[in-house]
Amino acid sequence: MIKRVYVWEFPVRLTHWLNFLSILVLAVTGLYVGSPFLFAIHEDQFIMAQMRFAHFIAAYVFTASFLLRIYWMFAGNRFSHWDQFIPVSRERIENLFGTTAYYCFLREKCPHVIGHTGIAGATYLFMFLVFLAEIITGFALYSQSHVGVTWTIWGGWLLSVLNVGVVRLIHHLIMYVIAVFVIVHVYISWHNDIAERTGLTSSIFSGYKSIEE
Ligand code: HEM
Ligand code: HEM
Repeated sequence: MIKRVYVWEFPVRLTHWLNFLSILVLAVTGLYVGSPFLFAIHEDQFIMAQMRFAHFIAAYVFTASFLLRIYWMFAGNRFSHWDQFIPVSRERIENLFGTTAYYCFLREKCPHVIGHTGIAGATYLFMFLVFLAEIITGFALYSQSHVGVTWTIWGGWLLSVLNVGVVRLIHHLIMYVIAVFVIVHVYISWHNDIAERTGLTSSIFSGYKSIEE
C-alpha cells in the first residue's frame, strides 16, 4: 500500500526555494559586477549600481535563508535534522556506503530511506559549507565599501588573512562549484523520481512523498 508521508516541512521548502531564487540573482548580478555585459547609453543610467544593489539584497536573503536552515537542523523533524547531513548513527553510515555503491554501479538497488539518502545528506553538508564560504568571502568584499563591526565579523576579518584579489577569485570560483552542483542535483532528483516513484521532485514543492509500506 502507498502511504503519503509529510517529509519536508515548510521551513525546509521555503529555504530551498529562497536559496534557488537568490542564487539565480546572485549569479547573474555577480557575473555583471565582475565583467559588465550591459553599458549605459545615458548619463541617468546606473546599471552597475543597480546590479550591485540587487546583489546585496539577494545576499541578505541568501544569508538569512542559510541561517534559518541551520536553525531548522535542530528544531525541525527527523528528516531535516543535522544527523541527516553528518552521519553519526550506524544506520546513516551504512546508508552512505550503500548509496555510494549504488551510484558507482556496484549495487542494483538504492538502499531505501524516506528522507535524504546518505550520499545526498553528505553532499548537502558539503554544499552548506560551500554556501558558508561564499557568504564569508562575500562579506569580506562587502566590508571594503561598508564599514562596521558586523561586516568585519561576517567576513571582513578574512582580508587580514588573504589578499583581496584572492578573496575575489575564490568568491567567483565558488559560483561555478554551485553551478556544477545544481546540474547534477536536478539530474539526480529527476532520475531518482523515475527510479523510485516516490514523487521526489514534487515533494520539494508539496512536502509529501509517496512511500510503499
Ligand atoms: C551564491 C551566492 C553568491 C554568488 C554566486 C556570488 C557571485 C559573485 C560574483 C561572480 C562576483 C563577481 C566577482 C568578480 O569580481 O569577478 C561577486 C561579487 C561580489 N559579491 Fe557575491 N555572490 C554570492 C554571494 C554573496 C554574498 C552572500 C555577499 C555578501 C554581501 C556577496 C557580496 C559580493 C560583493 C561585495 C562583491 C563585489 C562587488 C563589487 O566589487 O562591487 N556575494 N559575487
Ligand atoms: C540553486 C539551485 C538549487 C540548490 C542550491 C539546491 C539545493 C538543495 C539542498 C541544499 C537540498 C537539501 C534540502 C534541505 O534539507 O534543506 C535540496 C533538496 C532537494 N532539491 Fe534542490 N537545489 C536547487 C534547485 C533544485 C531544483 C531546480 C529542483 C527540481 C525541481 C530541486 C529539487 C530538490 C529535491 C527533490 C530535493 C529533496 C531531495 C533529496 O533528498 O535529495 N532542487 N536542494
